[in-house]
Amino acid sequence: MIHCQRELFSLPEGARYLNCAFMSPLLHTVKNAGIQGLNNKKTPYLVKVEDFFEPAERLREAFSAIINCPDPGQIAIIPSVSYGMANVAKNMNIPDNAEIVIAGEQFPSNMYPWFRLAKEQHAAIKIIQPPDTFTGRGNTWNQQILDAINPNTALVALSHCHWADGTLFDLKNIRSKTREADAALIIDGTQSVGALPFDVQEIEPDALVCAGYKWLMGPYSIGLAYYGDRFNNGTPIEENWINRLNSEDFAGLVDYEEKYQKGALRYEVGEHSNFILVPMMLAALNQIQTWGVQSIQEYCRDISQTAIDRLREAGFWIEDENFRGSHLFGIRFPRGIDINLIEKDLESRRIYVSVRGTSIRVAPHLYNTTDDFDILSEVLLNSVLNLKT
Ligand SMILES: Cc1ncc(COP(=O)(O)O)c(C=O)c1O
Repeated sequence: MIHCQRELFSLPEGARYLNCAFMSPLLHTVKNAGIQGLNNKKTPYLVKVEDFFEPAERLREAFSAIINCPDPGQIAIIPSVSYGMANVAKNMNIPDNAEIVIAGEQFPSNMYPWFRLAKEQHAAIKIIQPPDTFTGRGNTWNQQILDAINPNTALVALSHCHWADGTLFDLKNIRSKTREADAALIIDGTQSVGALPFDVQEIEPDALVCAGYKWLMGPYSIGLAYYGDRFNNGTPIEENWINRLNSEDFAGLVDYEEKYQKGALRYEVGEHSNFILVPMMLAALNQIQTWGVQSIQEYCRDISQTAIDRLREAGFWIEDENFRGSHLFGIRFPRGIDINLIEKDLESRRIYVSVRGTSIRVAPHLYNTTDDFDILSEVLLNSVLNLKT
């Protein structure tokens, strides 16, 4: 098993950071790449034509390797999930009264584009809300999503791992069902890709859109998207020069070109060559490849298992392992627990998780240890003791 990798990060001593689902901490290699990129601005006369293209190409290759995509030409560099989804929405042609199926309570960047699309193209939205039971919750939710897909479905939008509680969606079966309906399958991979294996050749999504600053460990304002064949002849949301065919020929830029670059490159954001963010993102993906995504998932499972068993015994609810991520999961409190007390205790022990209503979201990574989970469970178990006294 891989050992704790905390020394590779700039995390302050004593900080027990269990919130990579919010944003990753900074890898030293990512920081150094950023500083180098910034310093390069001192000597603009050294920037060459290939600097606009080659690092971006390497970034697409690295992301392709992580999602097992055979062709880096199907990857686009984007600034945000909302941007990546806007490109999808612009290129969907939905028959009147067809249905868009979306999993409930998703992050807004994978909701608003479909609300607008439905309005503009007179489609109906079917939101499949999480079941309000804890018994077989993940299984039931998946079944309800599968049941909602029918020959009238034009698009299904969800994530692989739900951002708020880590519920895993059965993408393989959902893909089969969408294929029968010839519906597009659009996945927000922000809370999974990089920490939970995803295989483009196995799932064959129509689009997979990821922000880069969480499980991909990059900086803010850069992300990556895979666009499948369905979008190869589409229209991007913006017209930028570098996405046109032969943009490498700087001398010919005013010989205006009608055609776009091949594959997904037409969907990249203007100035995607970003000389600071691209090398940072690339350094992050190189590190993830070195670790291996499967190893990250297994490490998170191993360091959290004992604490999960203890918490379940004390009445906390955590989804069955088959229906949640090990890198991201919710812990629901037994009734009557004083959340303010828990928040205070977590703060004093320097445990950083996301607290929401009657549950917390826990999101570990390779810089965490069983120690972090021991202390987290101690705080939570104390709150139960307080309840009894
Ligand atoms: C599932 C998910 N998608 C997307 C985002 C970010 O979206 P955007 O890049 O549009 O800001 C987040 C941020 O928390 C998220 O959790």
